[in-house]
Formats: sequence, structure tokens, C-alpha cells
Amino acid sequence: MSVINAQEPLRTLAGKDEERFINRFFVLYKTARMVDKNNKTFTLQSDNFFETLKPLMKKYDSADLKNIAGRYFVNESMVRFDGGGLSSANTIIVEWNSLGVGGVSFASEITKDEMERFFIFMAHIKPNSENLDSLSEKLKENSLPSIQLFSKAIEGIDGALLTEEMRRQLRTQARSTFFKAMSVVQEVVVNTQSDSEINISKTKRVVHSLIDQISQDESSLIELASIRDFDDYTYAHSTNVAVYSLTLGVRLGMDRARLSQLGFAALFHDIGKVKLPSDLISKPDAYDENDWIQMQRHPLLGAKTILRNLKFDMHTARAARGAFEHHINNDFTGYPMLRLDKTETTLFSKIISIVDSFDALTSGRVYLKKSIAPEDVIKKMQYQMKIKFDKFLLKLFNDIIGVYPVGSLVLLTSDEIALVLANNQADKANPYVKIVGDKDGLLESPEWTDLSTEENNHRKIVRKIEPAQHGLDIKDFILEN
Ligand SMILES: [Fe+2]
Ligand SMILES: [Fe+2]
Repeated sequence: MSVINAQEPLRTLAGKDEERFINRFFVLYKTARMVDKNNKTFTLQSDNFFETLKPLMKKYDSADLKNIAGRYFVNESMVRFDGGGLSSANTIIVEWNSLGVGGVSFASEITKDEMERFFIFMAHIKPNSENLDSLSEKLKENSLPSIQLFSKAIEGIDGALLTEEMRRQLRTQARSTFFKAMSVVQEVVVNTQSDSEINISKTKRVVHSLIDQISQDESSLIELASIRDFDDYTYAHSTNVAVYSLTLGVRLGMDRARLSQLGFAALFHDIGKVKLPSDLISKPDAYDENDWIQMQRHPLLGAKTILRNLKFDMHTARAARGAFEHHINNDFTGYPMLRLDKTETTLFSKIISIVDSFDALTSGRVYLKKSIAPEDVIKKMQYQMKIKFDKFLLKLFNDIIGVYPVGSLVLLTSDEIALVLANNQADKANPYVKIVGDKDGLLESPEWTDLSTEENNHRKIVRKIEPAQHGLDIKDFILEN
């Protein structure tokens, strides 16, 4: 048993062997917490996990699991992670972090007995009760020679260096997922308009790609959702609502089946608008009273359209309810007005209601016809509009958007201009950014850096800046690599 450093260049995305290894690792870890070594379930899960080691040993000689900067790696590949498994894995990783542990390596000569004793041992260590050295000593005493623990990566410095390459890959992947989702929405809208058949499986598949993406990397899709000037906002809006809803769902620990229904419902939430006159939807001026009466029909039209045009299943049932309820509000002040049966809206509707209002208000394309900065929208929602939304969900959403929302442009004390790429949960004032310009103008090759690290002490955010005031288009920064 020894301690090694978690830092190595990490490049590729993992395949099936790696996914199976990480999934079964956490299942066995959880099982070891609940039962003892002789229990049948433990034996079964231990057999399952031991099997997953074999193909990896062939490829790498050892099987390594690491958590770096919140992401999971098996050997040098980053792993796609199931939404449900992710939340329990994250709990274990938080506990490991409190012990200074960042991962584990199983050498090829490991025996099943040694592996089982390791799981039983680790699963019973209390958070904060040990540090990496004392833990290593204890593992030595327990004679576990084929197992090495990785030290936790120094937060920020190593994470930032390591993730730059990974971030590029993930952003490219996020872009293709996002635009695929937008084109599916467009197809759904066009087919709804002409009452043609809607390809439900295709829609479900794109929701699964969104879930995969968010489970690996929350920020890249949010960055794309923050773009305000897509040519056709209608399609972007539904995609944005799906991205934000799923991000909330993942943070709530929903399993994949629920996430899939939530994403599906989010994509369809405004489908009723397709049945309204198109000049109302694209009207450039503020709505008058008559426009509002028309607009308020879209939730009911949406529910009807879904139930009439799509095959009935759990996805479409929940989507119909989401479409019907997303403007009702927590205090029933919204629409449609429910005069008699004031049943509480569903969790999905509460989520969609929050992220829909956020996207509509920040876009300035819907209803208000005037865009408001994301951080001001969050404030408005928390103070002026708080009774309309679920308090807990709104707080969680506020955490996702952060102090400097992903996709904002900021001025630094170093006189540089940077695009916010990801929030640091532990240090929200100092996000991960891409430096795109300095006082001499735009940079040829932008620098990616983590503002929370010591090397960036001279770079603090002064304020957010409006890209348009400087003749810049935020979309160029987000869409370039
Ligand atoms: Fe709506
Ligand atoms: Fe909407």
C-alpha cells in the first residue's frame, strides 16, 4: 500500500469496460456499507466488480479510478456517468476528499480476497476521521499490497491544468449535443404545425445525450444556453429549458429514468405556442391585453397537443402535465386560472416554471421584450417574484447560475477581459475562465485559467461587462474553441 500522485495527462473518453468498472465499483462500495463480507449480495457484487477488472488489466496492467476536478477517470479516460449512479458516487467522493483521497489503483496481481477486504475496510471509514498517511498506515497493517490510494489533487492548480484539454473536448461535444437538440425541437415544431407524426424515440435519444453531457460536465451546455442571439429563439428556448431543468434534476439526484422524463417534458413545455398565430409569437412590441389572452391559451393547447399527437406513455403523460402547469405558479397567481381544484403542481412543473422564467427574462425575447442580466433575473426571482416559485428549487438554481454566470464577460484587475467558463463551487467569486483579450485588444490564442488559484492572485474580477458596449459578440467567444 502506498500513495501516488493523481496527476497524469488525461486525454480520451472511456468505453464500455471503463463504464462498467466505475459503475460496479460504486455499487460494491455502497453494498459494503450495508452488509458484511459473507452476505450473498456482497459476494454477488464482488464477483461482478472483480470481472470488470480483467479487461482493464489487459489494457493497462492496473485499474485506476480517480476523481479530478469533479470528474471521473478510469486510467487515462474520462468516464461517462449515469445520472443516478452519479449522485451516490459523488457522496463517496466528498467523503474521500475529507480523508485526502482522490482515487484508488488496483494492481494486476490483486486477489479477490484482498479486493473484498479493501472495500469492507474503506466503506467503514468515517469522513474526516483519518488523513491519507494514517489511512495508508492502516491499509499496510491490513496487508493490502496490490492497492494504492491516490492523493486528492490540489484543488484548482492541478484540476485546472488537467481539465484544459478535457474541457476543450467536452465543449466540442456539448456544442454538437446542443445543436442536435435544437434541430430535434425544430423538427417537433414543424411536425406539430403540420399535424404530422412526431418521432418520439429521436426526441428521447437527444434527451439522453443531454443527460450524458450534463453528468460529465455541467458548464459547457449552460454556456451554450446563455447565448441570447440565436436566429430562432423559439428552438433555442426549449433546448435551454431542457438544459437547465436537467442540470437541476442531476443536482437533485434524480435517476436516469426520471431525468429522461424531465428532459422530455422540458423540450415540449411550450409546444402549445405552435398552435397560436405566428405573428403573436414573433411580435416585436410588448403585448397588449388581447395578446395576453391569446398567449395564456398555450399551456392548455400544449397539453392537448401532446395527448392528441403523441403515443401515451409516462414521458408524454408527464410532458402534458408540465405543459399545462408551467405558468400556474406556486401561489396559483399564474395561468391557466384554477378556480376549484388548486392541486399543487408537480416537481417537474415547478422546475420548468423556474428555468423557463429565467430563460425568458434573460432573453428579452418573450413577454417583456427587454433582456435582463442573469444575475439580476435571479435577484428579481428571489425577491420580487419569490412566492411564484418553489423556494428550495430556486435556491438550488441560484447555485447553478452563480455570482458570475457561465457565459458572462468580465473585466479583471489585470485589465484583461475573460469569458466565464465554469463556476468553482467552493469559490464562486473566482470562476474558471478563458482570457480573450487584454488592453491591446483580442488575444490570438486565448488563455484558459482558474481564477481561484494562487498564480492568479493578480487577476480578480472587477465587474461584468456588456459585450455590445465594447463592440464584441459573446457568441463568437462561446462558439470558438
Ligand atoms: Fe410557456
Ligand atoms: Fe417557455
